[in-house]
Amino acid sequence: MIVDTPVATTSAAPAVDRTVLPVAVAGLGAYLPARTVDNEELTRRLDTSDTWIRTRTGIGRRHTAGPDEATSDLALAAARAALLDAGLDATELRALVVATCTPDHLLPATAPLVAAGLGTSIAAFDVNAACSGFVYGLRVAGALAATTDGPVLLIGAETLTRIVDPADRGTAILFGDGAAAVVLVAEEGAALGPFDLGSDGDDPSMLWAAATGTRYPPTPARLVAGEHFLTMRGSDVYRHAVLRMTASATAVLEAAGIAIEDVDLFIGHQANARILAGVAERLGLPQERSHVTIDRHGNTSAASIPLALADARDTGRLRDGDRVLVAAFGAGLTWGATLLTWRARP
Ligand code: COA
Repeated sequence: MIVDTPVATTSAAPAVDRTVLPVAVAGLGAYLPARTVDNEELTRRLDTSDTWIRTRTGIGRRHTAGPDEATSDLALAAARAALLDAGLDATELRALVVATCTPDHLLPATAPLVAAGLGTSIAAFDVNAACSGFVYGLRVAGALAATTDGPVLLIGAETLTRIVDPADRGTAILFGDGAAAVVLVAEEGAALGPFDLGSDGDDPSMLWAAATGTRYPPTPARLVAGEHFLTMRGSDVYRHAVLRMTASATAVLEAAGIAIEDVDLFIGHQANARILAGVAERLGLPQERSHVTIDRHGNTSAASIPLALADARDTGRLRDGDRVLVAAFGAGLTWGATLLTWRARP
């Protein structure tokens, strides 16, 4: 069990980015693959139990992509739903950004494949900040939306179950697949920011897929040994996640000049219900103002925050003018937080 002690960090905290972009969410859409895997199903192939998974992580089930589905398919479905919600045609978009750490291929990026699926040839590129990808993506796509003459689509999309070792009970229970997208538009009076984004690359092996790139290429022997799968030092990751998400969210609140009482909804990266509860407690935020979907989605990395945002909207938890605080943490290490003001659409 995790002992909640402080963690050593070697790098100094970067200065908060005080930028507040006049950018609003004009459309929001989500896609979850049809198949769900509950904890009971996992107990049939892993030495684990429903009780262990629920008490240690808060997860009850997760969605898994079908055999013919890759990250770009999930992203495309979410993109179409977001465009429909915004009442826009893909031809009206100016750029498309996919936040993912599970691309279809190492090369090319996933975003151009999604753009092609939408029938457009706009600028399209990926952002990889692992589970912090959507928050990083908000900074990048938000800046694009603020400075071009049209909407920008940001999609968080992941197929984590493809890179997890199905025989590793420490990770196979945690992750799920899914995608969600936001259409970002420049709008007078809208506010996206400030941003607190940071990284610490001193110890990438804390959470990584080792034999997947140029440092340690995926040779046949390494593939046989399963070294291309995601591995994680869970309790180290846990402690860093609580520390970094709390610090990042606090930095954003201070830069915005608001108190935690002014936050209507907190959407943290859905990595573990206990991490979310720990962050909320440290922020002084009542648990009921933290939106939790990990029980149904598992950890969907860069897709988790927009999926939770869509879930909050669909369950009536978002009202016009609500201030939403988002915070994430992921491999890298990376972390980030920002504030957005929800604009209800007719
Ligand atoms: N079922 C049953 N037992 C399990 C298990 C499972 N699925 N996974 C691990 N265990 C066992 C371990 O082998 C260990 O046994 P031991 O004491 O005999 O050695 C015991 O449970 C405790 O393991 P530990 O890793 O200390 O558990 P934990 O309380 O740290 O919980 C995690 C493990 C993975 C749930 C937790 O560390 C976590 O959520 N970390 C963050 C993960 C994360 O968010 N990653 C993505 C970040 S974006």
